[in-house]
Amino acid sequence: MKLSGKIALVSGGSRGIGFATAKILSENGATVVITAKNNERLDKAVLEIPNAIGIPADIRNSNDVKNVIKEIIEKFGKLDILVNNAGVFPQIKKLHEIDEAEWNEVLDVNLTGQFRFTKEAIPHLQKTFGSIINISSDAGLKAYEGFNADAYSASKAALILLTKCWALEYSKDKIRVNCICPGVVDTDMTKPFLKTQKDKEFMNNEHPLGRIGQPEEIGKAVLYFASDDASWTTGAILTVDGGESIK
Ligand SMILES: NC(=O)c1ccc[n+]([C@@H]2O[C@H](COP(=O)([O-])OP(=O)(O)OC[C@H]3O[C@@H](n4cnc5c(N)ncnc54)[C@H](OP(=O)(O)O)[C@@H]3O)[C@@H](O)[C@H]2O)c1
Repeated sequence: MKLSGKIALVSGGSRGIGFATAKILSENGATVVITAKNNERLDKAVLEIPNAIGIPADIRNSNDVKNVIKEIIEKFGKLDILVNNAGVFPQIKKLHEIDEAEWNEVLDVNLTGQFRFTKEAIPHLQKTFGSIINISSDAGLKAYEGFNADAYSASKAALILLTKCWALEYSKDKIRVNCICPGVVDTDMTKPFLKTQKDKEFMNNEHPLGRIGQPEEIGKAVLYFASDDASWTTGAILTVDGGESIK
């Protein structure tokens, strides 16, 4: 039980990587709070995770985010682990075809959303010598032929640098801040790109290990960063991507 007695918050914990992560943290002793904007999916997810509660929150709304932290402190008295996971993927379009509203929407969720949760969580993580894990993407590390999701790439690249900025800013408080860059993982987000056998083969072949990833494979990396196994690790950027980004 690597996380006995810990209180963990996973944004976007109702589905995909966030859900798998919440489950793994809970199976390792943490009490887990998951957030999402869709209530029905949130309620369903909570039933499948031991020691979890769900608090609905749209990450684009700072009052919702403030309320999540307030409820956690009222209920549990502290916060130890923040997993900045919630995210959206835009329609594939070249830069000149994106309108400003589409651009802003992606940045609002994937970047400003992580700022909102982190800002509210920091004063409490200072008290627990806590840990932050940012879920970026290997699309934040390099450009990919035909990827054409510039707002997404920009948001994920920014989160990689913010990981290092926050790690340095809060090292005196003994808050560790680390980042995971997944390759293509089998979730609702990637379903539109995995419709046919040909799509699946293409995506599998994009990864040198010959397959796309499963959400649990990201969750296990989050567990590592959240636990004392990573007690001397901060500002680290870990690719968990079947080798996709080394090509
Ligand atoms: N899947 C991949 O291949 C992949 C690769 C690299 C990085 N990532 C990153 O990993 C993270 C999780 O991705 P995923 O594939 O698990 O995505 P997913 O299956 O689409 O799940 C996204 C989660 O984020 C939540 N969310 C989205 N918009 C929100 C908002 N405005 N307010 C609150 N919650 C919101 C969703 O909640 P609702 O159910 O309420 O919408 C859901 O819980 C994302 O940051 C993504 O960019 C994914």
